Amino acid sequence: MYSAGKTKSLQQLTTTLLDKVKKEKIDAKKDIDELREVLRFHEYRYYIINDPLIADYEYDQLFKTLETIETAHPELITTDSPTQRVAKGLTKDFPPAPHLVPMLSLENSYNGEDLIDWDRKARELAKLNQIEYCVEPKFDGASISLIYENDLLARGATRGDGVQGDDITTNIKQIRSVPLSAKISDYGLQQIEIRGEVLLTKDNFKKYNDKLIEQNLAPLANPRNAAAGSLRIKDPKEVSRRNLEAFLYHISDYVTLPGASVHKLLQTHSGSLELLWELGFRSPQKEVRVFKGIEEVVKYCHEYEQKRDDLPYEIDGMVVKVNSLELQDQLGMTTHHPRWAIAYKFKARQATSKLRAIEFQVGRTGSITPVAKIEPVPIGGVTVGSISLFNEEVIREKDLMIGDTVLVERAGDVIPYIVKSLPEVRTGNEQPIIFPTKCPVCHDKLVKTPDEAVWRCVNINCEAQVLQRIFHFTSKDAMDIRGLGEAIVQKFYDLGFLKDIPGIYTLPFDKIRTLEGFGEKSITNLQAAITTSKEQPLHRLIFALGIRYVGETTAKTLAHAVKHLLDFAQLSLEELQNLEDVGPKVAGSIHQFFRNPDNIEMLKHLETLGLKLKNDKKDMAVSGNLSGQTFLFTGTLPTLKRSEAEALVESNGGKLLGSVSSKLNYLVTGDEAGSKLEKAKKITSVKIISEAEFLTLVNR
Ligand code: IVH
Repeated sequence: MYSAGKTKSLQQLTTTLLDKVKKEKIDAKKDIDELREVLRFHEYRYYIINDPLIADYEYDQLFKTLETIETAHPELITTDSPTQRVAKGLTKDFPPAPHLVPMLSLENSYNGEDLIDWDRKARELAKLNQIEYCVEPKFDGASISLIYENDLLARGATRGDGVQGDDITTNIKQIRSVPLSAKISDYGLQQIEIRGEVLLTKDNFKKYNDKLIEQNLAPLANPRNAAAGSLRIKDPKEVSRRNLEAFLYHISDYVTLPGASVHKLLQTHSGSLELLWELGFRSPQKEVRVFKGIEEVVKYCHEYEQKRDDLPYEIDGMVVKVNSLELQDQLGMTTHHPRWAIAYKFKARQATSKLRAIEFQVGRTGSITPVAKIEPVPIGGVTVGSISLFNEEVIREKDLMIGDTVLVERAGDVIPYIVKSLPEVRTGNEQPIIFPTKCPVCHDKLVKTPDEAVWRCVNINCEAQVLQRIFHFTSKDAMDIRGLGEAIVQKFYDLGFLKDIPGIYTLPFDKIRTLEGFGEKSITNLQAAITTSKEQPLHRLIFALGIRYVGETTAKTLAHAVKHLLDFAQLSLEELQNLEDVGPKVAGSIHQFFRNPDNIEMLKHLETLGLKLKNDKKDMAVSGNLSGQTFLFTGTLPTLKRSEAEALVESNGGKLLGSVSSKLNYLVTGDEAGSKLEKAKKITSVKIISEAEFLTLVNR
């Protein structure tokens, strides 16, 4: 798509434009085309080849400049301008979108023999001794069809019934890996219809579900459902927030320009993937393999199945396709599937089990969560015995009864869930599930507000809630007090040593010393961990308080917003809502927390015990010394703990990466640095530095 020379010149142009933006020397009319070209180039680097060349904030600066010019000169807006993805208002409806060629399904196979059998039939039909195949991942998402006309994205549609889908163009434009324009004319094409799959990475899916779980809402079952649902949302901004991605794997139809002949890449499937890649689409160009015969295909499918868990997105199998497009035509299709392709499905991550009981657990905010206890079954290498059902509604929706046979799924890293019950195999001995009306721990009456899915125990002194709040406070992602895990907290609570959060800082060590299992060493370690926790940055303390709907990200936003934690007691609902990422629900919850005198009392108490409620400069830094730079740590650092070093990066505006890639600016190495260091040495742009050099950067 971009040659080395072109890449270099676009990088230079980027620097020039950024410089002009800084010096306010942008010329609306002269620079607008170059701004667009540069933005498209960086979208390609980021979303298609996953190798960005500029920092996010630099991209944002250029994007905002383009937006400002277009607002001042609407006559200069083009339909494929990078700004035109952003839609205003809500979508009214999704009009019908007839496909140019029906979107068929695929025949399934489950083992090597199935594939060998399928190859034999195909060879008999084609009267050939051997067929060349392409093998690529079967992406587990929602299928889409795109039409490009005269180099512009003209329509995006769902699969629908295969003959006609829904026109979801506005939503498709929110997917940054779908280009708004593609130079198909360079390949002699006037129109092209492309098929592909929209998906969510496992990471994005988890983030999305974590938010739902925080609200006691049932999370989405799998990334596939999440992708399909996202495509039909009426608010394009929400679609954009989901960070959908698309792989495009099939050219289903094309019209050549008058006088143009069919491009030679359009003779094979592998060629068409290359063509799509050249045009700037994210085709499985890097994932696809071409094989001469079926034996190698089978081997590759087995190998790829082992890699399944390492991929950033879900795949549920492989797709084997006849490579020659002429032979594909010759083999044709049934009404259901093409004869030139077959899916090789990986082992299902599902199992059936018996629903033995429902346990009702009380959370730290009093929410009552039903948890299904099933007969333990192994799924995907893990034994599953407990499955959260989130709220009463889920029990009803899935028509669950005690004693039911249930279908359980566990996809990759996703938490297990009950797909459905199997009422067909009921014996008549199943018992209905009765949701409690009283708290199973303190026996207070449960309450449910109309805007919530969950029942709550509103007695804030309920033992279960108090314990859960302490568990959360000491947990790794919160105050990270090692040695004060759930079992020890429970023990201290039962012995009357620990009644509330401030109690952590006044534990009676003279009494603890007399307990069995508490030697001098463990006492010293525990005391040290408690003392260290007083230095945790403000955002961790905010998260640790367990305010409803305030997850780690919101906690960070909040920590930037005030000079002292108690300042929140003065903020109005409206002021809270003005904070980034804080909607009415979250604002309401924060407001409620800080208007409660008991909470204020507790915070003041914590301050007198030595905890940091003040925001130090590092926490305030929105764009600190490390702004726009990416970091990764490896090995044991001489003075800093890994978590401290990482916190320094974040509080100084830097970003942490999970692995070594060309996106990485600094690898900070300590003792016994391993493979990350070796990998980083091979990438010239990665700077390898020591802890001392890192600290100099921080204080620069
Ligand atoms: S080819 C006419 N290739 O799987 C053949 N499909 O279970 C078109 N899918 O409806 C399909 N990854 O939505 C093809 N690499 C891939 C795929 C793929 C996922 C989906 C597609 C199809 C479904 C069938």
